[in-house]
Amino acid sequence: MTPVVQVLPGTAAVAEAAAAAVAAAITQARARRGRALLALSGGETPRRTYARLAADPYRTSVPWSDTQVFWSDERCVPATDPASNFGMANTALLSRLSAIGGVHPVRGDLGADAAAADYDRLLRSFGDSGRPPRLDLILLGVGADGHTASLFPGGEAGAPGALAATSIAPQPPISRVTMTLPVLNAARAILFVVTGANKRPALTRILGTPPDLSLPAAQVRPSAGRVTWMLDRDAAPAN
Ligand code: 6PG
Repeated sequence: MTPVVQVLPGTAAVAEAAAAAVAAAITQARARRGRALLALSGGETPRRTYARLAADPYRTSVPWSDTQVFWSDERCVPATDPASNFGMANTALLSRLSAIGGVHPVRGDLGADAAAADYDRLLRSFGDSGRPPRLDLILLGVGADGHTASLFPGGEAGAPGALAATSIAPQPPISRVTMTLPVLNAARAILFVVTGANKRPALTRILGTPPDLSLPAAQVRPSAGRVTWMLDRDAAPAN
């Protein structure tokens, strides 16, 4: 499916539009399947979306109590560490909600290998017969190097068939656990949120014709899912 690209005036507009899209995806999934499976990411652009979701109308109108929350990736630090993606989402959003269906953080405190094995089992338990689960929405950021989740250019993407894998980031905290491409590409919908002029060169390659498939974010192409990009003007490719 061709990705939809929305260019918005600034960071607040991206957070607003992304929060509305997350709310709509959760509401629709709950109506169709009785529950919503949502994956969150780390990073400043996703954080602004969580802050918006933590305020009304979303805080009270979204069916959070039927929502299961996952993470696209995690840094191998304790949940209390300021670098923890779980900790960030918990502070910005989850701890502000009155109820939530389920929270499934990556156990970064276990160390990368054990945490990846644990998350692989967890994800498998939400899929049919060991296949990747079909998450309703995966919210992703993109780094200036074209990484997404903790899939870095030139890095290993996990053993064949793995649903979660360890990875090494170029910047600290370097030890990571990430969902693999088969999980991202099994999603019903992917929402990329990207802001800032430092992302423009990578986005020009990712959204180019043809896309530069050496960049991990360009490899996120669900076979039966929608991909939406919400960008601010600074990040948007020139044409
Ligand atoms: C992480 C991420 C990562 C992030 C992007 C964008 O743990 O670092 O999940 O993939 O989403 O690097 O982050 P910014 O919006 O802060 O640039």
